Order: sequence, then C-alpha cells, then structure tokens
Amino acid sequence: MLASPIWNVRAPMIMSTFAERFDFRGRTVFPITTYAMSGLGTTERDYAKSCPGATIGEGLAVQGEKVRDADGAVRSWLGRVGLLRD
Ligand SMILES: Cc1cc2nc3c(=O)[nH]c(=O)nc-3n(C[C@H](O)[C@H](O)[C@H](O)COP(=O)(O)O)c2cc1C
Repeated sequence: MLASPIWNVRAPMIMSTFAERFDFRGRTVFPITTYAMSGLGTTERDYAKSCPGATIGEGLAVQGEKVRDADGAVRSWLGRVGLLRD
C-alpha cells in the first residue's frame, strides 16, 4: 500500500520519488489517498509510471474530514481487494 494525501490531483512528487527507489515488479500496489475534493485523481496512473512491472490494485480514497468515520469504507475496501484478515 502506498498512502498519502492527494496534492494537485496527483500523488505528491515525493511519493513518486519514493516509489521509484524500490522494485515493485510482480507485486500489487494499492494506492490510498486522503483528499478534499479530487478523490484518487491520477494516483493510480502515477504509481503505474513509478512502479514499472507492478499491478496497480483498486485504490481507496477517503475524504480528509471523514477519516475518523471511515472504518466501514476501509473494511469493505480491504475485503474487496482480499486483504481483510479474520
Ligand atoms: C499542496 C497541497 C495540494 C493539495 N491538492 C489537493 C487536490 O488537488 N485535491 C484535493 O482533493 N485535495 C488537495 N489537497 C488537500 C489534501 O489532500 C488534504 O489536506 C489531505 O488529504 C488531508 O485532509 P484534511 O486536510 O481534510 O485532513 C492539497 C493539499 C495541499 C497541502
């Protein structure tokens, strides 16, 4: 999972720089953002560029001001992407 706020409708450059330093080939990257209005923006495409050879899984976007009430959304997303443990 690569998680950050969204900046200028994309993953912050520092996240792209960070992701480029690692080899995600053959792995699945799940993008997570908090946001004010833009949702995931271009985050999925940004990580597809920064992580060549990785699969970009379904992303999760949570509005910053709703983070404290996001349990349900996070759990159902974890279930959908197969990461929920019993
Ligand atoms: C430099 C900067 C750029 C931002 N650009 C966006 C943006 O394009 N779209 C958006 O929805 N939120 C944008 N935001 C808001 C942040 O994503 C938001 O503050 C963060 O997700 C945390 O939410 P909160 O401030 O409600 O806690 C930006 C924030 C900063 C500091």
